[in-house]
Amino acid sequence: SIEERVEELLARMTLPEKVGQMLQLDARDSDEIEALVTEQLAGSILHTSPADVPRAMAYAAATRLGIPLLIGDDCIHGYSFWPGATIFPTQLAMACTWNADLVERAARVTAVEVSSTGIHWTFSPVLCIARDLRWGRVNETFGEDPVLIGELGVAMVRGYQGDGLTDPTAILSCAKHFAGYSETQGGRDASEADLSRRKLRSWFLPPFERVARAGAASFMLGYQSMDGVPITANTWLLAEVLRGEWGYGGTLITDWDNVGRMVWEQRVCADITEAATIAVKAGNDLIMTTPSFREGALDAVAQGRLDEADIDAAVRRILRLKFALGLFENPRLPDVDRQAAVIGIPEHRAVALDMARRSLVLLRNDGTLPIEGGLVRGGDDRAVAPAHRTIAVVGPNADDPHATLGDWAGASGQVTWMPDGHPRELVETVLDGLRAIAPQDWTITHADGAEIGRLVPDPAGDTFDDGQPRHPILQPAEPDRDAIAEAVELVAAADYAVVVLGDSIPLTGETRSTATLDLIGGQIALLDALVETDTPVILVLVQGKPSTLPPSAERVAAIVEAFNPGMRGGRAVAELLFGLIEPAGRLPISFARHVGQQPVYYYQVRGQHGDRYADLTQDPLFAFGEGLSYTTIEYADLVIARPNLTSADSIEAEVTVRNTGARPAIETVQAYVRDVVTSVTWADKELKAWTQVEIAPGKSVRVRLSIPAAACSIVTADARRVVEPGDFELLVGHSSRERDLLTASFRITG
Ligand code: IFM
Repeated sequence: SIEERVEELLARMTLPEKVGQMLQLDARDSDEIEALVTEQLAGSILHTSPADVPRAMAYAAATRLGIPLLIGDDCIHGYSFWPGATIFPTQLAMACTWNADLVERAARVTAVEVSSTGIHWTFSPVLCIARDLRWGRVNETFGEDPVLIGELGVAMVRGYQGDGLTDPTAILSCAKHFAGYSETQGGRDASEADLSRRKLRSWFLPPFERVARAGAASFMLGYQSMDGVPITANTWLLAEVLRGEWGYGGTLITDWDNVGRMVWEQRVCADITEAATIAVKAGNDLIMTTPSFREGALDAVAQGRLDEADIDAAVRRILRLKFALGLFENPRLPDVDRQAAVIGIPEHRAVALDMARRSLVLLRNDGTLPIEGGLVRGGDDRAVAPAHRTIAVVGPNADDPHATLGDWAGASGQVTWMPDGHPRELVETVLDGLRAIAPQDWTITHADGAEIGRLVPDPAGDTFDDGQPRHPILQPAEPDRDAIAEAVELVAAADYAVVVLGDSIPLTGETRSTATLDLIGGQIALLDALVETDTPVILVLVQGKPSTLPPSAERVAAIVEAFNPGMRGGRAVAELLFGLIEPAGRLPISFARHVGQQPVYYYQVRGQHGDRYADLTQDPLFAFGEGLSYTTIEYADLVIARPNLTSADSIEAEVTVRNTGARPAIETVQAYVRDVVTSVTWADKELKAWTQVEIAPGKSVRVRLSIPAAACSIVTADARRVVEPGDFELLVGHSSRERDLLTASFRITG
């Protein structure tokens, strides 16, 4: 059995070999790989150029015990760094689908492609809860809601791990960043997270518990500290909760140099020996990119501060993974034939297109969309021969392949170990999409009209040894009058303006939080000028996270949120604008009206009368769950079958959903629960279930929802999750906004 093999191997290992197994080292420098594997005895490497994978595995095979390496990378919406691999919309965009099947399919495609390249492990899914929009990594999350995040997270794990780890197309998943990392100070990445255990149990831990129980192979920590304790040293969370309460037997990996940072950044350890001791005792198994952990751990054992048994516990869990993957028999080396057969093939790119189609969220429409004269659904025939039209496609993100792909997609130019990025011709920007979809004799004109900004050294920031700035900052571009005039001229002469605004890669991602949520650079001046023309403006947002919008956005004809829609994203946007597909995306995150409105997530804890701003409405700009269709939808007759329940029962409800317009509807029926009186202050409502239905024009469907009453729980003052008997409301409808919801009462008696 695997257990016997683990014990037999462990018994033959020396202490340095065991400590080596705990190291995951940065292998982006080809010249260093041999030393990492043969001298440091690293058990795992990351950020390896695909070309170096066979060599790295051969070095490992030639070591005394020949223990194979685990090779990991951040393939978080496709195999980011393999030029031509299928790149999906970012996780935030995927979450707009509210569709676990699609998310599972995307993860499966990623696993099939990645597993052919010799990579065994992806650092995905991200289960952080995005509540402060200034945080740079909002784009990597499934949004703000713990239940939606948990559901989509489990789907992603299933997709990556397939039918089981012995399946040659399975890759290990990694649920990250455990836990509370996103609850930043001022949105700043990796700052102290101000979280009580009660708050953790209320919102931040549930998605992780779900994927732990669903068999996620590994967990990764965040960078934050909580209540003065760096996450790497948090024995309560790692040992008591994860390993103890949840019985999690998978592998736990730190984030990048977390152990070293306890010495040189957070300064809670005097030296690496102390840091290694604390990290091992807290239950960390793999130590990411802290090479000095080796001397620290060896020293700690020599001084009697660590027992070899503590190291053994970690090594056992690492070896178990390697045996579970079958790496000793088949090291899963890159398979050139399989790569040719699977990477970026049309079937996979079609899944990326499906995902992008379902992820687009129509936020406003005065009837301008869909653009008249588009193709008839499903074919190349036109409903009516369209008259000639001109579309002006304008804005800095209209033809930007980087913003289209999103962060972690190897097109940002920051990735030195994979400098080429994805071939431009494989990335469909909005401009490409419109050129491909618009009737052939239509005229498409194009101008950027504005720049977002450029990276400059932070005058107050520190530098690397070679003098390069460690954290350059993005200096917004000044509005360029000539560029705006050129765009205005094109738009004024067109029948439609498609204006693609948003942010850029240097404004989204790890260490790239923003102080503002505005559309920066020349973008607002551009939009202000364009809405003065008589041409209807269709605003498409290509961005990592929700921006706030300027007053001129009130005057546009339509708004489509695309986030970073991936390599087929521009095509999907064009199909939506022409009405070849129906808008189906729903927001997984609330939009703020102003940066100072943070946080604006919908499940706010009930406050008192002063819990508001004097200079701004409390309303979000766009609410969680929102998203329009090209048709109109009505809800009626919400009924709960048996409204008196015990906590062992299920709430069985039905509602009628009618398509009262002229186009098909893809509706996400959302069910929230309100606990009317709680012993502690609690969220006013929380999402508990949803279901998606397709309804033909003029038809209605009776939709059933089933919610376990046990899900109507709250977390008490002493951090226990309980269902408190009493009165509840079920709210069912189109979004989290009260005006979109029907209400029915029920009672839980005990
Ligand atoms: O996986 C990532 C993590 O999300 C942030 N720090 C670096 C890791 C490895 O690239």
